[in-house]
Amino acid sequence: MTAKSKKTRAQHDFQGRTCSITGVGSYVPEKILTNAELEKMVDTSDEWITTRTGIKERRIAAKDEFTSDMAAKAALRAMKMAGVTASQINLIIIATVTPDMPFPSTACLVQHKIGAKNAAAFDLEAACSGFIYGIEVAKQFIMSHTYDTVLVVGAEKLSSITDWKDRNTCVLFGDGAGAAILQHRPGTQGLLTAAVGADGEKSDLLFMPGGGSRCPATQGSVDARMHFLRMEGKETFKNAVQTMCAAAKEVLRRCDLEVSQIKCFIPHQANRRIVDAVAGRIGAKPEQVFVNLHKYGNTSAASAAIAAGKIQRGDLILLVVFGSGLTWGAAVIEW
Ligand SMILES: CC(C)(COP(=O)(O)OP(=O)(O)OC[C@H]1O[C@@H](n2cnc3c(N)ncnc32)[C@H](O)[C@@H]1OP(=O)(O)O)[C@@H](O)C(=O)NCCC(=O)NCCS
Repeated sequence: MTAKSKKTRAQHDFQGRTCSITGVGSYVPEKILTNAELEKMVDTSDEWITTRTGIKERRIAAKDEFTSDMAAKAALRAMKMAGVTASQINLIIIATVTPDMPFPSTACLVQHKIGAKNAAAFDLEAACSGFIYGIEVAKQFIMSHTYDTVLVVGAEKLSSITDWKDRNTCVLFGDGAGAAILQHRPGTQGLLTAAVGADGEKSDLLFMPGGGSRCPATQGSVDARMHFLRMEGKETFKNAVQTMCAAAKEVLRRCDLEVSQIKCFIPHQANRRIVDAVAGRIGAKPEQVFVNLHKYGNTSAASAAIAAGKIQRGDLILLVVFGSGLTWGAAVIEW
């Protein structure tokens, strides 16, 4: 690695066992929804969406295409890259806020779709931070020698919980899936460190009121549009910038890395202005910053994983995410 010569915390802690990303894969649905099309649906404009968010278009899953379908497609691509067969997978973690159903878990549905009969399977709900939460959980199983091969997928059909009459939110989100295979791989450091956090006091900034035990579906809850996500945009924005900066600085500090040593900074793809504010505050140069939100919008747990497909072996990557909860996370990975 290109880091300073002294050993990182990860090397000291794990004595040779690594948690490395050996394969990544992503999937986005075919249908593109452009800003011009949104202009016909709500009182908005391409100019407003572009200047306030940077988003130009997003993908929308077909009616009969579910979170598990997108997750399975991304997973199969990641498995191919890693050279892993379905029967080798020991654990499947699906990070999502849009499971196919409240239960069984989408992870069980994906297990069946990819034929991973030997894998334990569960869903993880940390909203847009789900992918980093997922790899941090996977790391515990790999480092403890409990499992050798873990599949982590961030997958969302956010179009299914988007209020297409609410211009404040419907312009922001898209559908997609990103998957990673995590394994011990000699000769690389893999996941050097990850920091995840939460602040439940701010759970009302971004939430979906209906569909849980607090507000099961009734005619009234449907009429009140409670099965769609709601958001306080400005406060969410402020918290995103603050927590993403703090998390990024924390993981760099733990690894004794300067931001200049990072090959690629992959921030959560929520809003171009959030990306620029975080990059500016941590001192990342524009050429280090990965951005694909103009093409996909915010795909929540899938976004960090979709982005991660663009990296070369040996690159040092800084991933930083933020989401409902509130939740956040950052990770430094030697690819
Ligand atoms: C949602 C967001 C883009 C709004 O941008 P903003 O600069 O904060 O805009 P404001 O909330 O100040 O709204 C400005 C005006 O634009 C209007 N507006 C909102 N959405 C609009 C749209 N799609 N088209 C046109 N006008 C819109 C608002 O109604 C408001 O009008 P008003 O001043 O007459 O009340 C921004 O706050 C944001 O990105 N927040 C974070 C969202 C996020 O990341 N969520 C996911 C976290 S994982």
